[in-house]
Amino acid sequence: MSIKTIFNEQEVPESYRVPLKKKYDTYLLNGQIKKWNGKTSEVFSPIYSKDTDGVLKPTLLGTVPLMGEKDAMEALDSANKAFSNGTGSWPTMKVEERIKCVEKFAGLMKLKREEVVNFIMWEIGKTLPDAQKEFDRTVDYIYDTIDELKDLDRNSARVKLHSEVYAQIRRGPLGVVLCLGPYNYPLNETFCLLIPALIMGNTTVFKPAKFGVILITPLLEAFAEAFPKGVVNILFGRGREVATPIVKSGRVEVLALIGNSKSANALQSQHPKQNRLRLVLGLEAKNPAIVLPDTDMDLAVEECVLGSLSYNGQRCTALKMIFVHENIIETFNKKFIERIGQLKYGLPWEEGVKLTPLPEPGKPQYIKELIDDAVSKGAEVINKGGGETNHSFVFPAVLYPVDEKMNVYHEEQFGPVVPILSFKDVQEPIDSIVNSNYGQQVSLFSKNADTLAPLVDSLVNQVCRVNINSQCQRGPDVYPFVGRKDSAVSTLSVRAALRSFSIRTLVACKNNQLNKDILNDILDNNKSNFVSTNYIL
Ligand code: G3H
Repeated sequence: MSIKTIFNEQEVPESYRVPLKKKYDTYLLNGQIKKWNGKTSEVFSPIYSKDTDGVLKPTLLGTVPLMGEKDAMEALDSANKAFSNGTGSWPTMKVEERIKCVEKFAGLMKLKREEVVNFIMWEIGKTLPDAQKEFDRTVDYIYDTIDELKDLDRNSARVKLHSEVYAQIRRGPLGVVLCLGPYNYPLNETFCLLIPALIMGNTTVFKPAKFGVILITPLLEAFAEAFPKGVVNILFGRGREVATPIVKSGRVEVLALIGNSKSANALQSQHPKQNRLRLVLGLEAKNPAIVLPDTDMDLAVEECVLGSLSYNGQRCTALKMIFVHENIIETFNKKFIERIGQLKYGLPWEEGVKLTPLPEPGKPQYIKELIDDAVSKGAEVINKGGGETNHSFVFPAVLYPVDEKMNVYHEEQFGPVVPILSFKDVQEPIDSIVNSNYGQQVSLFSKNADTLAPLVDSLVNQVCRVNINSQCQRGPDVYPFVGRKDSAVSTLSVRAALRSFSIRTLVACKNNQLNKDILNDILDNNKSNFVSTNYIL
C-alpha cells in the first residue's frame, strides 16, 4: 500500500509549514513568561520525513520543557496565592471584570488562528477543515460562555424573600483547578475546562496533553496579558511528574481531566482528602450504533462512516460498535465498505483528505493486535486494504462478525477499526449496552417512530444521549456532554460547565428592620461585589 506520509519540506504548501527542530523554551508562571533552561523532551509529528541520511522518520518539530515536581509546586503555589483561600482579587472580582479579561484573551487568541491550526495538523494529524473547526469552535465556546455567565449573573442579581428569610444566591469559585486535556482535541476540550473554570473565579494550573503540546505555546502571551498574575499557570511535562505531586499536595480543589480512567483514578487516589476534590471528568466510551431492519440504508451508512471514522475514529464520541439487524446485514456491510473504500487518505492539508496519520506511536501495533485477536476468534477483515499499515498510517479495518470473546468488543479502540455485529432480536444490543462499563451515547437507525420510541425510552436510562438517525457527537456545545458509569463525572455544556466549576453560596438574614437597613445600605452604596443587584448587560 503506498500511502503518502512522507514529504520534502518544499512539498508542503507554504501557508501550512511550521518551524522544524525548534526549541520551545517558555512557560507561564505567576503571570510571567519564564525561560526554561532545564531538561527537554522532543516533540515528533506523526507525519514522516526523510532525515539527512535519507531514512524515513517521524518529523522532529522541536523540544518542549520537561518539568518536574519542583516546577509543579511553584505553579501550584502561584495558583494558591492568586486564590488566597477565596480572598484573592480574582475570586472576589466583579463578574464584569472577569468577563473583560476573558474577552481580552479571546481577542488575542483569534490572532493566533493560523499558527495554532497548523500545529494541530502537524502534531496530531487532524485534517485542515477539522483543525480550523476545532479552533473556531473553541472561540465560539468562549463567547457563548461569556453570554451564559451574564445570564446566570442576571438571574442571581436579586434578593429573594422566602419564609421570612432574605437571601441572595450566587455561584462562587471552588479554588485551584488542575486542568488536563486530551490529545484528540488538545485545544477545544482543554479550553472547555479551562475557560469556565477561570471565568467562575477559580485559579488554574494547566498541563497540555501528551500530543498537541506546541500548539499551546503561541497562546502563552495571550494568557499572560489577559489574566492577573497567578490565575493561569501553564506547565509542560509528564503527568506523573507534574500532575501527581500537585494532587498529592492536597492543595487543589478540582481535578478537571478529559482522558482515560486509568490516569484519572491514579490521580484522584493521590489526594489526601478525597471528599474535598471535585471531579470533572470525560473518560472512555464505547458508543454503539443499532441499525434496525426498517432503516434508511444510505443515511445509516453515511452516518456510521462519519461516526466511526471521523478523525480516524479518535473521538471519545466515535461509534465504536455497529449492531446491524441480520435481515439487512449483507447490504449494510456491502455499502459500508464501499463508502470506506472511497475515503481519501493523505496529509492533513490535502484537499478532501479524511484519513490521516495517527499521533500515538504504539497505535498501529495496537490496532493490529485487535485485528489479529478478532480474526483468530472468527472475525474477518471484510474491506479491501483494511488494517494495512504504512508507518503511522493505518487504513481502517472493518471486522465482521464480532462477538464478546474478542478484545475489540470490550476495549475502546480509539482508532481506525470498526467492529460490526449482527443481531436477530433488539434485546441483544440492549443487553450489550446494559452490561457495558460505558454509558455515553448511542445512535439508533430506523425510519419508523413506532420502532424507535420504545427503544429511546429504555436507552435514555442507559446512556446520556440517544441519537436518532445521526452519529454520536458532543456538539452543539450548548447541549449537555455527559456520561454514565465509567464514561464521565460531571456535566459539560456551555451552561453546565459554569455550574461544574462553582458552588452555590448565599448570603441570608432574617426579615427584620435592622437586617433590611443593612441590606439596603450595602445595595444602595455598592458596598459588596456579592450582595449586589447590579445587572450586567
Ligand atoms: O473526544 C471526544 C470529543 O468530545 C468529541 O467531540 O463529538 O464534537 O467530535 P465531537
